[in-house]
Amino acid sequence: MGVRLTNVAKTFGSFHALRDVSMEIPTGSFAVFVGPSGCGKSTLLRMIAGLEETSGGEIVIDDRDVTAVEPAERQVAMVFQNYALYPHLSVFENMAFSLRLARRPKEEVNRRVQEAARILQLGEHLPKKPSQLSGGQRQRVAIGRAIVRQPKVFLFDEPLSNLDAELRVQMRLELTRLHRQLGATMIYVTHDQVEAMTLADLIFVLKGGVVQQAGAPLALYDDPDNRFVAGFIGSPSMNFLPTVIAAREGHRVTLQLEGSEHAFTADLSGQAAVGQAVEIGVRPEHFRIGGAGLPVQVEVAEELGDVSYLYARTASGREIVVQRQGSRDRLDGQTVQLSAEPRHVLVFDGEGRRLR
Ligand SMILES: Nc1ncnc2c1ncn2[C@@H]1O[C@H](COP(=O)(O)OP(=O)(O)OP(=O)(O)O)[C@@H](O)[C@H]1O
Ligand SMILES: [Mg+2]
Repeated sequence: MGVRLTNVAKTFGSFHALRDVSMEIPTGSFAVFVGPSGCGKSTLLRMIAGLEETSGGEIVIDDRDVTAVEPAERQVAMVFQNYALYPHLSVFENMAFSLRLARRPKEEVNRRVQEAARILQLGEHLPKKPSQLSGGQRQRVAIGRAIVRQPKVFLFDEPLSNLDAELRVQMRLELTRLHRQLGATMIYVTHDQVEAMTLADLIFVLKGGVVQQAGAPLALYDDPDNRFVAGFIGSPSMNFLPTVIAAREGHRVTLQLEGSEHAFTADLSGQAAVGQAVEIGVRPEHFRIGGAGLPVQVEVAEELGDVSYLYARTASGREIVVQRQGSRDRLDGQTVQLSAEPRHVLVFDGEGRRLR
């Protein structure tokens, strides 16, 4: 196992930053911690790095309990958002720094820095100072400093958030290539669910210091455990509507919309009582337009060429986003009817738990 956390907790005074976090990150995988600001992502990463003490639980890296081990002895390397390069040192010396500290032989320092520079295509920049580099190049130097240490685990804390949108997309691809090339375990923190979806083999969604769900990106997208994960993963977000279970026949349930005669149907195999108030969730691309269905008024239509987004409102004033593929008929100002296949209608109870 690359990294295993068992019942890890962190308190700052009486504040619980992390509660009972348990996870297994297989060797060689790319794990992402994602969640809103303040959910405890950085704290958890810093605990794995050893920069923050644990208040409870156990951290194991490569089958060794490191809970009480010094950061330098954990064989991890961390890359920060702000690069933290030494401005007076060249790119070469920035990357060589930790190896020089460790008094590695000159020939080895040279070999490892050249190798990292080759992987990151920084060869021609080695003599430059950080101030002579672009943001993306500086971030590559910061990653290079981690690579030369040949860590068991790479830890990234929002490394791309200082870059502009285009460069972020490019660096995202480079990180995926780097991961394939090195085959090392990587743990990456971000609040951006698109970064999480595109980079990860394994995503951990956090909220309020608690892991909400762990799984492969598309497993979280298709089969969220709760309303928070359902709403957090995916852009535009899933639509939620308050309903009541009006009827049930076997697995098929009829979900009556509040204050409306319209209903959706869904399939539930577990407990769900007629009369229970639940919320339904439908992704923007899963609404069908036309036929019988929930009438909504389209307020704005964004036509992007390949897709369009309809921003609509129900009679009771709820906002609904609908995604259409390829269609170019203008629907601004019109009333359309929305329906969805039962398998695309997810159901959540009053506490936000998914009913299946
Ligand atoms: N040294 C500290 N002392 C007290 N509270 C702290 C300390 N460090 C973090 N916290 C609190 O712990 C919680 C988690 O912080 P953390 O930095 O891990 O969040 P995050 O998920 O990384 O957020 P962001 O996306 O904003 O970086 C926050 O509420 C924060 O205020
Ligand atoms: Mg953070």
